[in-house]
Amino acid sequence: MSDDNNNAPKRGFATRAIHAGYDPLDYHGALNPPVFLTSTFAFDRIETGIERFKGEAQGYIYSRVGNPTATVLETRLASLEGGEAALATSSGMGAITAVVWSLLKAGDEIIADRTLYGCTFALFTHQIQRFGMSVRFVDLTDPANLEGAFAPNTKMVFTESPSNPNMRLVDIAAVAKICRAAGVPLVVDNTYCTPYLQRPLELGADIVVHSMTKYLGGHGDLLAGAVVASREHVDLCRTVGIKEMNGACISAFDAYLVLRGLKTLPLRMDRHCANATALARDIAAHPAVDQVYFPGLESHPQHALAKRQMKDFGGMIAFELKGGLQAGIRFMDAVELVTRAVSLGDAETLVQHPATMTHASYAPEERARHGFTDGLIRLSVGLEDYADLRTDLIGALDRAAA
Ligand SMILES: Cc1ncc(COP(=O)(O)O)c(C=O)c1O
Repeated sequence: MSDDNNNAPKRGFATRAIHAGYDPLDYHGALNPPVFLTSTFAFDRIETGIERFKGEAQGYIYSRVGNPTATVLETRLASLEGGEAALATSSGMGAITAVVWSLLKAGDEIIADRTLYGCTFALFTHQIQRFGMSVRFVDLTDPANLEGAFAPNTKMVFTESPSNPNMRLVDIAAVAKICRAAGVPLVVDNTYCTPYLQRPLELGADIVVHSMTKYLGGHGDLLAGAVVASREHVDLCRTVGIKEMNGACISAFDAYLVLRGLKTLPLRMDRHCANATALARDIAAHPAVDQVYFPGLESHPQHALAKRQMKDFGGMIAFELKGGLQAGIRFMDAVELVTRAVSLGDAETLVQHPATMTHASYAPEERARHGFTDGLIRLSVGLEDYADLRTDLIGALDRAAA
């Protein structure tokens, strides 16, 4: 029934989100993959263990390096992203650091787009320097800025699209072409889109990273991450990044929960997108609102790119109120159905304040330089009834403006 890594005709995305990487008949007919709660794996003879350690024989050794439940998830993710292989990790940051630790060494440089999730920004700006690495921020919304930007020690280009929190888009195909000519791998954080909406590897990127904590898990009940890339890159992330450096392997139970979430990914994403598109229009039309950042609005400067690069516009909205930060705080205190919380991609609609929460690692002048204001509010639009969300959000905007 599974249709991965063989010559079977490629099935549709929704089918693969449910079946890829798993055949019940391999596991006593169990409809769902068993959760292999084991840290280690027995060898039938000592030679088997020796051969596995040398990489001369296939088979499991220890769950930090591989686990059968994680393997099902990794095979499914590779199939959905269109990658050769995947590695599941304990968090999105575990995936990002696994890539950094396996590709870079002291003296190397990362070129990164100007806006990134706060902890990725903190890793690149405040932490990797302690290990002799450096970062250079380049505005990748114009790919031409990357031409000629490479130094001999540039070993990675890193971007999100859309970016967290201000919804800037990067033309992945154009940036990938420039990276390829320079021989530098392009890493794309695809958390906001998921492979259902955008597949960076098919656009020419080399490595995709995910926080599976978000839409892929989809239910706010786990932390997990992923790297999807060529087998060579994934093996390096597994054997260096995870095994010997950050130890951020996924637990079998969390791998199971992500597999369960993935089964409904297309259905959930369609609903996230529909709710967000309708709400972005409602919010933009409210007199208290100054700016709405949502790639599905014609007013978004990269709306045409969004239509070309993404299947739909996603479930994330950022906006600013005319009354600035104070009005934003009144708005966030006024919501009743929407939950005040960080994270994103859950069934529940979540609202948060990037400057003091997810992006607090940016100093005020860095926020200004990297293009987002203290008044910005981030909304992760959930799966509730649109009418209820509209009533709650428009009511809160009315009260914030009063
Ligand atoms: C775009 C993006 N990448 C990476 C991460 C880190 O993921 P995790 O919290 O699973 O470590 C996040 C978390 O919010 C994120 O939004």
